[in-house]
Amino acid sequence: MKYFIANWKTNKTLAEVEAWKKDVQGIRASSDLELVVCPSFLYLSVFQKFSLWKVGVQTISPFANGAYTGAISALMASQFAQYAIVGHTERRKYFAETDEMVAQQADQTVQSGMTPIIAVDDHNWAHQLNLLDAATLKKCLVMYEPPEAISTSGAGGAAADIDHVVEALSSITSNFEILGGLYGGSVSAENIAQYVHNEKIDGVVVGNASLDAEKVKKMIEALS
Ligand code: PGA
Repeated sequence: MKYFIANWKTNKTLAEVEAWKKDVQGIRASSDLELVVCPSFLYLSVFQKFSLWKVGVQTISPFANGAYTGAISALMASQFAQYAIVGHTERRKYFAETDEMVAQQADQTVQSGMTPIIAVDDHNWAHQLNLLDAATLKKCLVMYEPPEAISTSGAGGAAADIDHVVEALSSITSNFEILGGLYGGSVSAENIAQYVHNEKIDGVVVGNASLDAEKVKKMIEALS
């Protein structure tokens, strides 16, 4: 199984969501490609039983249901979604999420029956994954994403070098038994195939390029 995860971040109006849906619904993908769209929480209900797509959330509360004003628990999200990205670089940077909180989020996600996608980089993967027990880790996808590779198009940066990604995921999988290792960071129609076709990489998380239905079609075609 290979994974194509669309991480929309804080983007799109409801009308834009509906238009994207219409444009991608005819896409055919091989049955061993898991397509997952991660919209805002507000749009989760729009994607119930949508074509070939599964649904993910972009973060989750570290706490169960209770007196946590404004939070969305894993139990709530699991009624609408099958995956939860936890510990994305942007959550760590702008919302002060710590490794400990991310571990709690991953635990909550597994307990709710969803699959966590734990985002890590070179500096934090060992500490982050050591906070989880072996049984939980086996149910987690781990996304390796160097912060400097995120959304670089037009900014003079670049997606991470494939050899570096393979090296990082190999270190992670030789130390921890996980469900799978993904790559994220400036994935595009031009570079997606090299990552997804590599036997050490189980799939990709696509941010910016996933907002555009035409680019999504091209990326999925490139994998077929
Ligand atoms: P990007 O985002 O594809 O825009 O680099 C990926 C991510 O951060 O999830």
